[in-house]
Order: sequence, then structure tokens, then C-alpha cells
Amino acid sequence: MKSLDKHVQLKLSTLESKKLLRKLAETNRSTSGTTIRDNKKLISFACNDYLGLSQNPDVIRAIKEASNKYGAGAGASRLVTGNNVLYKKLENQLADLKGTERACVFGSGYLANLGIIPSLVGPKDLIVTDQLSHACIFAGADLAESKILTFQHNDINNLEGILKRERSLHQHVMVVTDGVFSMDGDLAPIPELSKLCKKYDAWLMTDDAHGIGVLGNGRGSNFAFESASEIPLQMGTLSKAVGSYGGYLCASKPVIELIKTRARTLIYSTALPPAIISASISALNIIKTNPELTKIPLKNAQFFTSILKLDKAVSPIVPIILGDPERAMNASKILENKGYLVTAIRPPTVPEGTARLRFAFSSEHKIDDIKNLAKIVKKNILCN
Ligand SMILES: Cc1ncc(COP(=O)(O)O)c(C=O)c1O
Repeated sequence: MKSLDKHVQLKLSTLESKKLLRKLAETNRSTSGTTIRDNKKLISFACNDYLGLSQNPDVIRAIKEASNKYGAGAGASRLVTGNNVLYKKLENQLADLKGTERACVFGSGYLANLGIIPSLVGPKDLIVTDQLSHACIFAGADLAESKILTFQHNDINNLEGILKRERSLHQHVMVVTDGVFSMDGDLAPIPELSKLCKKYDAWLMTDDAHGIGVLGNGRGSNFAFESASEIPLQMGTLSKAVGSYGGYLCASKPVIELIKTRARTLIYSTALPPAIISASISALNIIKTNPELTKIPLKNAQFFTSILKLDKAVSPIVPIILGDPERAMNASKILENKGYLVTAIRPPTVPEGTARLRFAFSSEHKIDDIKNLAKIVKKNILCN
């Protein structure tokens, strides 16, 4: 065996022995929260399409019309020839939704974090992030070559201790956190974070990938609190509740101007297909004009947590932590055999010893399906 294959084979067998090998399963998503896997129809609680907008007829029509008009791909990066007229409309919608002067759309949420963070901070600066922040926040922070420190999950006192000790040692400080934690479903304490960042002149960035469309009447996690806080950098994705694809940053005019001229993932990556931008525009219109729709995923999650007497859900994401990866995989298989798709999440996506089932609730779910799922979870998983 050649050295490369030998090296890789060893890595694969080590992962296999720890039950950490990941496999792609062919999945054909359909309407009403259903999915076909291995020729079997499943009700999916594993998808971030919280409002079913990826399957919405108006959104699909928008895609078809834009692809008829503009074709399949963008052909170049936004700064070359890829800056389709639809970008302006989408960016205005996003800035309006988040209450900022401007917005900038990226190829994806992951690309957004990789582009934004190193455009704003560098080697003389400090980035402080929640220990459970999404992987792409850490990846973006690594590219900045700043000092990186983590604070204990949602622990304001721990963060303040770090800022007190470190603030004067750095030119600029950026504090970055998920708005809704993708694997835990809890919210960052945004009002306290905003106050603290102001006190220490640190720039707060929230990643609202799982908040837009489903919290605060669809405006996101910052708007789920009694009053919205000042957040100079509001980042997120269009690939979850918005049902489409792409990432964004909402911020002041000068910040967005700098991002559009410096963010490497915007400059050196092909723009989004125009049809995808059109889908996002259509979906954001639906979100803006249907505040009642945006509330349903959370209500469904809360219905589930109330049946199982779990902590009341504060977002559409509900984890059930099982600890061992094998136990999480087995639990997922049990649910699949009963007709429900619920993904097992294992390290390194979550910390060692916290493998879990992650339930994602959508407006498409039916009350009876949630009840039945809760019954099965209670009988087959929580009792073990
Ligand atoms: C918190 C968070 N940020 C960013 C991303 C990346 O977004 P995208 O899927 O658009 O690349 C995700 C998606 O998994 C996420 O959960």
C-alpha cells in the first residue's frame, strides 16, 4: 500500500474503533418535513429548514424564474462579474431585518466567518469566543493570527475576567459567539454580552445561523430578548430557516465597505448562483410578512420538551445528551426504525462525553408526530 493510503487507512480504522467514523447517507428531502432514506419515508427532525421554505412553491418559483433569466452559475466572484443586481435587493432586505446600515452576502455562513474575522482583527489583537462556538468561528479566528481565548459557555463572569486581564494588552478585541448554539439550542446572553463589550471597547459579533427566521418575529436571537442590544457585527446564514444558501454580515456602512474590499472569501470565491439569491429574497419576504409562521418551530420544540419534562426549549433545537457515541448512534437507529430521522451528533462536533441526539423542530411538523416521537423517546431512549 502506498504511504498516503496507509496513513489514511490507519486514521480511518482509529475512527472506526471509536465509533467516530462518519458516513454520507443518501437522503431525498421532500415536503412536510419528510425524507426518503434507504427507500423508506421518514419524518425528519434532523433538518435546519425550520420553516420548510426550501420546499415552498413561491421560493421554488423564484429560483426557476431567476435561472431562466440569469442561467445556472454566477461565472465569477462578486468583484469581477458576479455581482448580479439581485444582491442589492437581498442585502437591503437583510440590513432592514437586522436594523443595520448595510449588509454583505457571502457564498455561505462558513465562508462569511472565514472572511469577516481576519478582515477586522490581526496579530496585535485578541479574539475571545464561547467554548461552544461553531467550528467556522474558530476557523475564521485561526486565519486572523490574533491571540485566541475561549470563555466558559455563556459565562459572563468568566468573559469579564478575561477582558479585565487582557484588554490593555491588545489593540483591538473581538468577542464572538453563536446567537443560538447549534448543538445545544440555548441562546447567548446577548444583552449582558453587549453591555460588557461596550464597557471594554470590544467588538461583539453574533453568529445567528439558527436564530434568523425563527426567533424575535424572524429577526433573530437579538430580538428574542426584552429589547434588542447593540451588536456591531451580526453574522448569519441563509441556508437554514431561510431555506436557501449563502451567508451574510449586517453591520455599519464603513464595516461593510471594508469587508467588500478585503474579505478573502468574498474576493477569491465565485459569487452565488443568481437563482439562489432570488430564493433568499423570496424566503425573506415570507419571513417578514408571516410573523406567526416564524413562531411555530419554537412552539413545536416547547411542546416536545413539555411532554418529556426537559428544560423548556428556547429555540427550535433540542438536544438529548447520551454521552457515549455508540449510545447516540444506537438511539438514532431506534428512532429511524420507528420512522423518525434524528441525527446523532458525536465528537468533535460536540465535546467528548456529550454525544447526543439533536432534534430540530420545524413549522412543518404535525402535533401528532411530535407526540408520537416523544412517546418513543421516553419509552426507548430516556428509560435506558
Ligand atoms: C452556528 C453556525 N454558524 C455557521 C454555520 C455555517 O453556515 P453554512 O451552512 O451557511 O456554511 C453553521 C452551519 O452549520 C452554524 O450552525
